[in-house]
Amino acid sequence: MTSNIPSHVPVELVRDFDFVDMRGETDVYEHFRRLHDGPEFFFTPHHGGHWVATRFADMEAILANPAAFSSKHQTVPPMPIRLTLIEWDGQMHADARAVLAPYFSPKAVGGLEDTARTLTTSLIDGFIDKGECEFVQDFAFKMPITIMMRLMDLPPEDTPYLLQISEDIVRSVDPTVQQAAFQRVAEYVANQVIPSRRANPGADLFSAILGAKIDNGRHFTDPEVISFGSVLFAAGLDTVSSTMGFIAKFLAENPQHRRQLVADPELIGSALEEFQRRFSLANIARVVVDDMEFKGIQLRKEDRILIPTSAAGIDNQRFSDPMEVDFARKDKKTLLFGRGPHMCAGNFLARTEMRVFLQEWLSRIPEFAIKPGETPIVAPGKANCVRYLPLVWPTH
Ligand code: HEM
Repeated sequence: MTSNIPSHVPVELVRDFDFVDMRGETDVYEHFRRLHDGPEFFFTPHHGGHWVATRFADMEAILANPAAFSSKHQTVPPMPIRLTLIEWDGQMHADARAVLAPYFSPKAVGGLEDTARTLTTSLIDGFIDKGECEFVQDFAFKMPITIMMRLMDLPPEDTPYLLQISEDIVRSVDPTVQQAAFQRVAEYVANQVIPSRRANPGADLFSAILGAKIDNGRHFTDPEVISFGSVLFAAGLDTVSSTMGFIAKFLAENPQHRRQLVADPELIGSALEEFQRRFSLANIARVVVDDMEFKGIQLRKEDRILIPTSAAGIDNQRFSDPMEVDFARKDKKTLLFGRGPHMCAGNFLARTEMRVFLQEWLSRIPEFAIKPGETPIVAPGKANCVRYLPLVWPTH
């Protein structure tokens, strides 16, 4: 592994940290909190060797400076293909982003809020009388994908197939699994979506992508459209489910907080902001554009930097008692959705989905807990995730 440490990296800045390996720790956020016990900016030989930013301020500064820090490899380890939009820089990125804007504006998302609410209620109806559910499979996975299928005007019967792909892209750090998942999205978009939208353009997002002009007047190539599809699936599904999962897990384990929200649903807005600070979960990356100095440290062109936003919201330099969830906290600034030109295009949609979830769930299932004898499963990743969350509640 020492071969992954380039000569310009000072030995005192090398630390043995693998962001996806908790080494026996069971709390994902304790795993990331430990970053604050060591150097603020360090190098690890894992995943081919990369720098790690640990503090909120440094992460924010890097994300806001795309001229110095490129998005060309937006993950550690790098994706097998360069992704449309999220791994583009400069004008090409701005052109691609402009295509999405009308579909994710507050006005457009407002039109999806009723759908999200009806869906949430019907999912809860499906299991409320049983007094238990597995939150991830029974609820958190189903809600965002159904919204996304509507947004893209895709047939509901394809939902389970696309959900599995999204999981493989986001949750796996195994390049073979990822490659296979990208291949399946590619085939789906190439065979099911592109031909039908070319033949019959509609008002949906894929039709807009196919009709758009980028890069001084050309259309997206088919591989770029296909990659765009993968980005939307990877970015907009698992992230929402897992954020809901971390919130539901917290509320199941902390009845006082939960009862506060049940007693006063007006608090849900500020509670959601506090959850977004405390349970940030995307661990993204940037690539150094040219040799430069950062915090007095020599960085070389093509060095990769992990930006674990999971550690940003719990940074004790930025927040007092950062591990505490306090709905009344004044500073709840979050990097959950990133910062700078790549800041999450779907953040308004995501926040709407999560607000609807909290409002509807707490009004129907105000008392709930982790199922006795069971242990929830959480894991760090490119986006930290909740894999298994068995919940129970009283039935009357
Ligand atoms: C809680 C849920 C979500 C989280 C935590 C999240 C997080 C993020 C983050 C951190 C980025 C920035 C990546 C970077 O700078 O490299 C991002 C970008 C993006 N997100 Fe989200 N996201 C969420 C939901 C969604 C949803 C619902 C959509 C809708 C499809 C979406 C679509 C996108 C897209 C398209 C980008 C790329 C934007 C660009 O490169 O300009 N996200 N997201």
